[in-house]
Amino acid sequence: MDSIESRITVKRLHPLFVAEVTGIDLKLPLSRADFRVIWEAFNEHQVLVFRDQHFDDDSQIAFCRHFGELETMIAHPGNDWNPGHISVMTNLGKDGNFLPADHPAMVHRARNEDWHSDSSFKPVAALASMLAARIVPPVGGNTDLASARAAWADLPAERQAALEGLTALHRMTLRDAANDKGYKEEDKQRHVVTHPLVRANPVNGRKALYVGAHAQEIVGMPPEEGARLIEELTVHCTQPQYVYSHHWRDGDAVLWDNRCTLHRATPFETAKYKRKLHRTTIAGKSPDSAFANVPGA
Ligand SMILES: [Fe+2]
Repeated sequence: MDSIESRITVKRLHPLFVAEVTGIDLKLPLSRADFRVIWEAFNEHQVLVFRDQHFDDDSQIAFCRHFGELETMIAHPGNDWNPGHISVMTNLGKDGNFLPADHPAMVHRARNEDWHSDSSFKPVAALASMLAARIVPPVGGNTDLASARAAWADLPAERQAALEGLTALHRMTLRDAANDKGYKEEDKQRHVVTHPLVRANPVNGRKALYVGAHAQEIVGMPPEEGARLIEELTVHCTQPQYVYSHHWRDGDAVLWDNRCTLHRATPFETAKYKRKLHRTTIAGKSPDSAFANVPGA
């Protein structure tokens, strides 16, 4: 356990990444010193787990704004084509009843079961996402997170050298494209972007593979060859030794670094258990200057 000058403690939960942060109520005004501790832990551990926070939307948004501007979601069936700063991940309708598995919102949310990095299809990709529990199922519905930084570090040096300098093309639509109805055509056209295949954290220089379901081609390679390479690297990053599976408890909030981790939703009994999590997404400044997100840093 790291010993910190403030009352905050940071304890590693996995051999390679993920830390639990305790000793602070994030719903209260946050001092600059406490935010500094959290910011440093975020850059080091890549995923932060906060228990017993019980955020509401206003307090979740207020906390996340310390990291930078929040993204506004893109319109899709999961937000009733009416997006804001909060993205609701649930199997419940507005009346609180279970949605059928073939409901457009449920079909759309199933996309999250592919490993991905949030908003990697945007010109300025997301710095971080926070998912905070409102209602949690007793079993299933974990969120899996993988360290693409640890996976990068384990690649042989010659492989790293061959990958550095490559550029990937990211699309909002997924590779299998089976669910292409979930976005407006103009949004699909707009969200085709390129990012470096390997990104360095601007604070500590640690590199990570930047892949996942939205990365679909490598610039300068035949499309199928690029797709195969990205798939191979995504499989590499999501091997069990690089994965932390978060079992949700009431009041939990999890913050992850989209620059160096991948994540996915996992199934649960959607006709038996209620699950409702609210996500906020913090925009980056540019893919490689996210430290600029921190005022005065
Ligand atoms: Fe996601």
